[in-house]
Amino acid sequence: ATILYQDQFIDREQAKVDIEDRGYQFGDGIYEAMMVYSGQIFLLEPHMKRLERSARELSLTLPYSVAHITENIKKLIEINQLKDGVVYFQITRGAAPRQHFFPDHVSSVITGSVSNHTRDLSKRPKGIKASLAEDIRWLRCDIKTLNLLGNVLAKQKAHVEGSGEAILHRGNTVTEGSSSNAFIVKNGQLITHPADHFILNGITRLFVLDLAKQLGIPFVEREFTVDELVNADEVFITGTSNEVNPVLQIEQQVVADGEQGPVTKKLIKAFDAEVE
Ligand code: PDD
Repeated sequence: ATILYQDQFIDREQAKVDIEDRGYQFGDGIYEAMMVYSGQIFLLEPHMKRLERSARELSLTLPYSVAHITENIKKLIEINQLKDGVVYFQITRGAAPRQHFFPDHVSSVITGSVSNHTRDLSKRPKGIKASLAEDIRWLRCDIKTLNLLGNVLAKQKAHVEGSGEAILHRGNTVTEGSSSNAFIVKNGQLITHPADHFILNGITRLFVLDLAKQLGIPFVEREFTVDELVNADEVFITGTSNEVNPVLQIEQQVVADGEQGPVTKKLIKAFDAEVE
């Protein structure tokens, strides 16, 4: 496979990063993951806007203009002849002798890669089981940074418990999934955590809220509790590669009747129609 390194397209095996890269040493960097459907990047613009915001919040200077980065990512997709899959790219602050504060002379480093992900609707699972995990992350979860240890530990807990996702809660308040946003449906209303510092404002989350608006599904962005989660009529998570994924069981408790709910189904159908 060919990867993107700065402005070059090189073989995966040839690519090397500096041992003093701040992404490697501190997780000092940002990333985005985007879906590619039929060779086209899905929701490119909002992903790039979020990247710019993440960079700004961390005072990280992008190595190239967003237009140039976009051009290179499109080239990467072309070179790898990716039809359906994920394009992942990250930007670190760069390499410099290790010190916590930002070095004076450092230039950011972009790397990117693609992976195949065929969209076979007949093989799509009906839903997943989710675990619960305390949200132990920092207080700027709105920035899409490479610092993901809190997310990784939660996902690992879910994994060993045979769950597809960990739904995080700060005390009683549900925030989001370890790599997704969480939604519940109660009495026909869609509820999801507001886009503040406690969650990543998912591009899929925003897209689903937009679909809900178009479909006339009432929704509210407000905090909800673990109790509301496990007693919801429907639960689903959203994310770039998960799209809209029903949660049919949480820990030992089945959600409602354990089947995909009507609101979730409507949203999945609308989502599918948009990417076909
Ligand atoms: N994860 N919340 C967290 C903590 C995430 O890591 C993600 C995405 C989301 C959903 O965001 P979006 O809809 O923009 O993908 C929410 C990516 C896919 C990842 O880390 O691989």
